[in-house]
Amino acid sequence: MSKRILLLHGPNLNLLGTREPEKYGTTTLEQINQLCDSRARWHKAELRAEQSNHEGALIDVLHVARNWADGVVFNPGAYTHTSIALRDAISAIQIPVVEVHLSNVHAREEFRHKSLLAPVCIGQISGFGWRSYLLGIDALLGFLGALHEPG
Ligand code: DQA
Repeated sequence: MSKRILLLHGPNLNLLGTREPEKYGTTTLEQINQLCDSRARWHKAELRAEQSNHEGALIDVLHVARNWADGVVFNPGAYTHTSIALRDAISAIQIPVVEVHLSNVHAREEFRHKSLLAPVCIGQISGFGWRSYLLGIDALLGFLGALHEPG
């Protein structure tokens, strides 16, 4: 059975491409979703992508994911630093979540250094631009023992 991945994007990430490109690059969310889809297919995994600007909607998507997904690659945007509710949702669903960020949050303002979510994720990837997402997919599938190793 191929693994199924939820790729979840939080607030303001719908604006990628034009949003503060010096921090987040010029790649659009649609392009990131396509790159991630190709990566997942290469590993013979399936990927579904969702984005919301609303905390409760993100929680709803995570709740539904527990019924179909083997794991989640999640860029929670600014909710990373504020949301106990999202942290509780990740704890509740009991499927592995990888936290990803385009920018290196540890090299930015102090309020971005703290992630309320990282302690309940299997790990955090931060600072590699759109490649953070591809690394996140590899990390999740590696954790699940489902990396496609050629040869
Ligand atoms: C971000 C980092 C967050 O601090 C910020 O609020 C974002 C984007 C990133 O991908 O670098 O919205 O998650």
